[in-house]
Amino acid sequence: MTPRNLLQLLPMAGHTRGNRSAATCHFKCGDACAKDVCNTSSNAYFRDIADQALSRRAALGLGGVAAAAVVVGQQVASAPSAAADAGGFGKGGGKLPFQAIAPVERTVDAVTVPEGYDWSPVIRWGDPLFSSAGEFDPSNQSAEDQKQRFGYNCDYLNIIADRGNGTTGVLVANHEYTNENVMFDPAWLEANPDEARLTAMAAHGFSVVEVRRDKAGGVWKPVIDGKRNRRIHMHTEFVLDGPAAGSDLLKTKDDPTGTVVWGMNNNCSGGTTPWGTVLTGEENFNQYYVGRGTPEEARYGIGTDPSSRGWELTEARFDAKNDGYENEANRFGYIVEIDPHDPESTPVKHTALGRFKHEGANVTIAADGRAVAYLGDDERFDYIYKFVSKNKYREGDREHNKTLLSEGDLYVAKFNATSAAEIDGSGKLPSDGAFDGSGEWLPLLVRGTSRVPGMSVEEVLVYTRLAGDKVGATKMDRPEDIDVNPATGKVYAALTNNTRRGTDGKALADEANPRSRNRDGHVLELTERNNDAASLTFGWNILLVAGDPSVDTTTYFSGYPAEKVSPISCPDNVAFDSAGNLWISTDGQPGTIGYADALHKVTLTGDERGRVQQFLAVPNGAETCGPVIHDRENTVFVSIQHPGDDGTWDEPTSFFPDYVDSRETAGGGEFFGPRPSVIQVFRTTGNNGNGKGRGPRK
Ligand code: FEO
Ligand code: CA
Ligand code: CA
Repeated sequence: MTPRNLLQLLPMAGHTRGNRSAATCHFKCGDACAKDVCNTSSNAYFRDIADQALSRRAALGLGGVAAAAVVVGQQVASAPSAAADAGGFGKGGGKLPFQAIAPVERTVDAVTVPEGYDWSPVIRWGDPLFSSAGEFDPSNQSAEDQKQRFGYNCDYLNIIADRGNGTTGVLVANHEYTNENVMFDPAWLEANPDEARLTAMAAHGFSVVEVRRDKAGGVWKPVIDGKRNRRIHMHTEFVLDGPAAGSDLLKTKDDPTGTVVWGMNNNCSGGTTPWGTVLTGEENFNQYYVGRGTPEEARYGIGTDPSSRGWELTEARFDAKNDGYENEANRFGYIVEIDPHDPESTPVKHTALGRFKHEGANVTIAADGRAVAYLGDDERFDYIYKFVSKNKYREGDREHNKTLLSEGDLYVAKFNATSAAEIDGSGKLPSDGAFDGSGEWLPLLVRGTSRVPGMSVEEVLVYTRLAGDKVGATKMDRPEDIDVNPATGKVYAALTNNTRRGTDGKALADEANPRSRNRDGHVLELTERNNDAASLTFGWNILLVAGDPSVDTTTYFSGYPAEKVSPISCPDNVAFDSAGNLWISTDGQPGTIGYADALHKVTLTGDERGRVQQFLAVPNGAETCGPVIHDRENTVFVSIQHPGDDGTWDEPTSFFPDYVDSRETAGGGEFFGPRPSVIQVFRTTGNNGNGKGRGPRK
């Protein structure tokens, strides 16, 4: 029996909770969970690390307010309009009908989809974007070769169809990080450590790939040598724009202007703007740098030990102790805007949206036309932010709209409670029948002026976490994706988990984060005042408190019977279908409720509000990312990230998606082992079954 069959056939009987793969912790987040909490502030008492850090900065003469320097990325010719992020493209008339699947044992090495559906890989790590690259040869990798191929660990995803007959478009995906243990032959890695690190740098970043299909509703395939094909990686040039661009805090030996950066790091989720550009969030960037031991570095989780990836051994810029690179890490941790329709455009790092461990950014247009971006800082006890542009969106004026994220106001969320006295960390629903309350967007930067005592505009934008500490933002349970439901205007925020809540003198449970040792996470629903995204106050309630209700009495599904929902844990990315249903992908279910990570549909209105139905499960070791729901075409896309990350080159633990039986029989660009990939799930009994999936089925 082949390893894949062994893994696939492990019985559901004996289902146990597992631990998150040590490899996931190490490579993805730099073992963040095992380290001290970064946010040691007491917020309301103003005796926090921010004061310490800022008084030291003032002593060094770095506290002044610099003139705003707005540098906008290279402007480009008009490009095809993007399809909306939500609801799909085309006129297929599908409604994505499905029967929820049973949760899948975490060791099953297969993509499991509902009855009547099948799946097919669209693009895999190593697939060529350019014909000059040729077929993928995993035993013959190099940095230059990787720069011509789809990168590793795809996360944010969108399929942006061109206007027209619906048969052409672009696939955009970011590449969060690398798993060297399964990517490289260990003998080669040992003999070529610098080339291996450069290859890993090349496998980070972002891909734009033209895609084509035979007919609207069909299965997309990549177009090698497509005109818009592009790989962005750790040596691509970026421009820093917004009020902090040009600041002394952003200058290095390589860039004395403080406006040019090479590379982006650990890009997690993102969003597609109403004007058709793509946003991507630099998340756990801290793990790539060696710091000097400053309070600011500590607040961002940057340590003084050798980095977990060792990139400082290949390039001096990754060690802040090296002369001239003290500020290099300040140039990472931003929302990046990329124009997928112009391969010559320079990607822009927007300092106006602040610097933290950005999960992603989703943009909507406020009642008065300003662009509003919702932002999560994915760290235990960190904050939810909102950016409101200075200028207004102009329909059809793409060049103008591409400047909207360069200047505006930045806020951080404070959650007030209605039942504070009843919150004891047990997760028990308050007697008023809801975890709910009002909220305020506390100003950090308004009309170009810092609203944070003792912090300049530049400091607010480069040390944004410290600004949130100073104004008393609410400490959240790892805010991940935050997105606006296009059907209702309500805002949904995934809070993945926080097992430190209520422990060791850490912040206690509050009504917006109602469980101590919150292992399974929850989802918040925000309603902006007057349903206007630019409002400065909002109402909120908890839509669901996640977990496996068969063994956990603290779950809550907005009143929907817990025995009728699919178990769900660690909500991460959110998306919507054309009817306004919420879709949630998970990151960490194997380590909590013991099931493979999943994609779930959640009904938001009517009698079935709170009903969670599992649509798919991902292979052994993987998390589900970047869901795209084209329900009108009966199609769903997901990124499958870090499959088999606890294996090795010699002993893989996942064979997704090629499922070849040995290295000897792998040919034609196949890989004996796991390949992070984008897959398309399509209905075989509906209007779009013209593709053929491969690999084991459920
Ligand atoms: Fe990369 Fe917040 O997940
Ligand atoms: Ca309440
Ligand atoms: Ca994520």
